[in-house]
Amino acid sequence: MTAAAPIAAASPHVMNTYGRLPLALSHGRGCRVWDVNGKAYLDGLGGIAVNTLGHAHPRLVAALQDQVGKLIHTSNYYHIPLQEALAERLVALSGMSHVFFCSTGLEANEAALKLARKFGHDRGIDRPEVVVFEGAFHGRSIATLSATANPKIHAGFGPLVEGFVRVPRNDIAALRRATEGNPNITAVFFEAIQGEGGIHPMTVDFMRELRALCDERNWLMMIDEVQCGIGRTGKWFAHQWAGIVPDVMPLAKGLGSGAPVGAEVAGPKAAHIFQPGNHGTTFGGNPLAMRAGVETLAVMVDEGLLDNAARVGAHLNTALTTHLLGVAGVVEVRGQGLMLGIELDRPCGVLAQRCADAGLLISVTADRVVRLVPPLILSTAEADEIVALLVPQIRQFLAEAA
Ligand SMILES: Cc1ncc(COP(=O)(O)O)c(C=O)c1O
Repeated sequence: MTAAAPIAAASPHVMNTYGRLPLALSHGRGCRVWDVNGKAYLDGLGGIAVNTLGHAHPRLVAALQDQVGKLIHTSNYYHIPLQEALAERLVALSGMSHVFFCSTGLEANEAALKLARKFGHDRGIDRPEVVVFEGAFHGRSIATLSATANPKIHAGFGPLVEGFVRVPRNDIAALRRATEGNPNITAVFFEAIQGEGGIHPMTVDFMRELRALCDERNWLMMIDEVQCGIGRTGKWFAHQWAGIVPDVMPLAKGLGSGAPVGAEVAGPKAAHIFQPGNHGTTFGGNPLAMRAGVETLAVMVDEGLLDNAARVGAHLNTALTTHLLGVAGVVEVRGQGLMLGIELDRPCGVLAQRCADAGLLISVTADRVVRLVPPLILSTAEADEIVALLVPQIRQFLAEAA
């Protein structure tokens, strides 16, 4: 297998913050993308759980072209009808009541943390604290990286923001012990399925117990659905598998199918914490981003993409499990819908390049977990193609390293 040709001109003036593969993509269609040298790839990564509708979806292209010709940006000094339309949709889908718009996941999470603090201050708690989890990833601003569990993400950025109590996943007894007698807790903040942490789902039972505890203690339940939300698991939001409704739900990634759209969805307990002047962002909710969000959700309904994610995801999960479970070095295949992880017993970052060489885009997260978060339009045939490309790479890697 030949390595992808290096791109002609990688500028030394782009800040060196990513371990990039030496390839540059030029265009895409559906679940396929092509690089500048004309090599085709099947997209198992979807821009890291972003390209809900795949690439160049005709309806999204038409909607954005139309919107660019009308209005891109106006500022939040005025009413924005498309913002109101997207808020109506998100409220209807979530069973919550209000939405604040921003542009990225970390911004949505930053807003959640501000809500948790002000919720406390409004009740006379001067030093509010938020329960967060081992394995969590919430972003790279100073506050959201402090809420994140990964020491590599903390390194070099201290002092971290205080006011977090960290507990293990899926252990309600440990959470109770860690918060016992602490009157400063105002919220519990977690991903329904941890993404960057290695595709670790919170169990349905745990989420239900947590909902009950948040009600009992008057804490905000804040569920980061930035990666696992927007239909990826086969429900609009991954926590809906537990039949619960959070008080605060940050969204981003898949909501605009590639256009930067972030949202903070709030239920009645959190919807009125922010007052005018408490929060804002210039780009949040601008007409171009909102048109992307409205069209993405409409296409998802019209094309049955929740069912597709559930069905094709189950097929992919079963096929990967069949081919890989029992192979020495494979620890587990896990996840839900089109959010899947294959955990190996050793670091396997090199697989991202090897799979790209073979014509498949994937990522490796938490050092040892191969992550698949493809567009939600993935067909069964394309899922089979992922398996056919990926399984030999994993097998060969494990055989070499053994
Ligand atoms: C669960 C979760 N929250 C927050 C973020 C941060 O989102 P962004 O990169 O848009 O700031 C991510 C990004 O990977 C994420 O997976």
